Amino acid sequence: MLGLKLVLILLFCWEPLNALESDPELTSTYYQGDILNRGAKRRNGIGNEIFRWPNATVRYFIQPNVFDKAQLAHISEAMATIMNNSCITYVIAKEEELPLALNITGLNDGCNTEVLGYRKNAPNRINLQPHQIGKGCFRIGSIMHELLHSLGFEHQHVSQNRDEYVRIEWENIDKNQFTNFINEDDTTHWHNFGEAYDYNSVMHYLPMAFSKNGQPTIVALKKGNYDMGQRIKMTKSDIRKLNKMYKCHGYV
Ligand SMILES: *[C@@H]1O[C@H](CO)[C@@H](O)[C@H](O)[C@H]1NC(C)=O
Ligand SMILES: *[C@@H]1O[C@H](CO)[C@@H](O)[C@H](O)[C@H]1NC(C)=O
Ligand SMILES: *[C@@H]1O[C@H](CO)[C@@H](O)[C@H](O)[C@H]1NC(C)=O
Ligand SMILES: [Zn+2]
Repeated sequence: MLGLKLVLILLFCWEPLNALESDPELTSTYYQGDILNRGAKRRNGIGNEIFRWPNATVRYFIQPNVFDKAQLAHISEAMATIMNNSCITYVIAKEEELPLALNITGLNDGCNTEVLGYRKNAPNRINLQPHQIGKGCFRIGSIMHELLHSLGFEHQHVSQNRDEYVRIEWENIDKNQFTNFINEDDTTHWHNFGEAYDYNSVMHYLPMAFSKNGQPTIVALKKGNYDMGQRIKMTKSDIRKLNKMYKCHGYV
């Protein structure tokens, strides 16, 4: 009997785990995908400087007893990669800096970021469900994806010029997820920092993101061999945008 119960439990777990592996940013139970509170403006990079981390310095806090050693090392590696490729610095927050520090936790399902960029009156928060290394939220690109949200970047496919590069297949999208595809803002507060649309961006969605019927929701309009939705690395263009956003040396 015990054996049977074990088998049943394993079978029950199998499906959700598999689904998570495809992209837990998308299977997050949150209505708005992996940005919990994005506000009305939707563009690739937030232009307004008040949403940048002061001095390009991110004070952060990792919630204790959530991640194991390997997971902590993976978070550090993602931060080191960003630091090595830009003028961003990650510094562990002192006690008195906690109220405005980036809170990295993993108590909830999925990988998501509370808001885009820095807020001077509330802490930002990233949730990384403690998947095993290389899977789900613990693919190195997934961690960098959430870190880039917290630095001020939106998804590539909602950039201002996206209609020249991708076709959004609205009839294939789950209605509750329309919000993740809307790009209607033409103010100057968001931009691409002079960079071309990047199908391979670590901020791009999978072609099947939020599909309700197994049909694509994002179709590339330009021919090419793309890796849409990759969570392996920041592209050169991701790196340049970050450097331009934070006016790193040589990019001003
Ligand atoms: C930014 O750097 C300046 C000069 O180094 C320093 O005076 C200031 O306190 C820093 N601000 C923050 C928020 O770290
Ligand atoms: C970042 O740069 C340092 C110093 O060059 C190097 O030791 C480290 O391996 C690099 N880390 C990553 C993740 O690129
Ligand atoms: C970080 O977020 C978690 C999850 O919401 C919360 O329990 C914790 O108190 C927060 N930590 C800080 C320092 O704000
Ligand atoms: Zn995202």
